[in-house]
Amino acid sequence: MILDFEGGFFLRHAAPADHAALCHVCLRTGAAGQDATWREDDPELMGLIYAVPYQVLEPDFAFVIEGRKGVAGYLFGVLDTGAFNLRVAADWYPSLRRRITDPGADRSRWQGSDWARRMVHHPRLELPAALAPFPSHGHVDLLPEARGRGIGKSCMAFLEGRLAAAGSGGIFLEVDPANSHALRFYDSLGYRTVPGVRIADASVFVAKRLTRGPD
Ligand SMILES: CC(C)(COP(=O)(O)OP(=O)(O)OC[C@H]1O[C@@H](n2cnc3c(N)ncnc32)[C@H](O)[C@@H]1OP(=O)(O)O)[C@@H](O)C(=O)NCCC(=O)NCCS
Repeated sequence: MILDFEGGFFLRHAAPADHAALCHVCLRTGAAGQDATWREDDPELMGLIYAVPYQVLEPDFAFVIEGRKGVAGYLFGVLDTGAFNLRVAADWYPSLRRRITDPGADRSRWQGSDWARRMVHHPRLELPAALAPFPSHGHVDLLPEARGRGIGKSCMAFLEGRLAAAGSGGIFLEVDPANSHALRFYDSLGYRTVPGVRIADASVFVAKRLTRGPD
């Protein structure tokens, strides 16, 4: 156990045995923070894009929130996003591409998880220049039973501390603009929207400078 959140919830490192649980949490939080089960015909694919590679490629900053009923969330950090994205491109997507068919560029024909299948073949891995002061990034997703108990706030403080101690000067998070709850949550933690960086209707970026505290 790394952190005790009380009420039966605690933080521990994520392990390869958690991959199915990471995919489950990703699916259950994948529609602007809400359950995406209704939308996806491949229940694993979102997790294979947005969750599992963090455990595989950046395990020092990959954690799960364990609850009484099992994994109730995850917390991921990446120290150097540019380097991570290069590794994802070289070491992660090629094997996924071998078993996932590209549905093509015509969005009007996409169904179910086709948007994610397209993402596997055309991942968006370039970083907007405005994010340069924020080399790290993170993800936190909690199942409903873990929300509203201060766990998200504790997780972000913990992650910021770990990244700052490792030398990071800033962290960003990519948020669905429809996820107003998460935007208010990050705002309450001191994150601010990075001006001019927005990917169509899909993402806004919130960020915060990090400073290393006294050892
Ligand atoms: C967003 C999420 C991580 C927040 O974690 P949480 O544990 O529910 O939030 P906390 O209980 O730690 O709240 C922390 C602070 O944010 C504030 N906050 C949380 N939700 C808020 C909201 N909707 N509006 C205003 N403030 C809010 C809380 O009041 C609290 O402030 P306080 O400490 O001054 O009381 C969590 O709800 C979640 O995983 N949601 C679903 C998935 C998701 O949206 N993830 C983010 C994707 S970018």
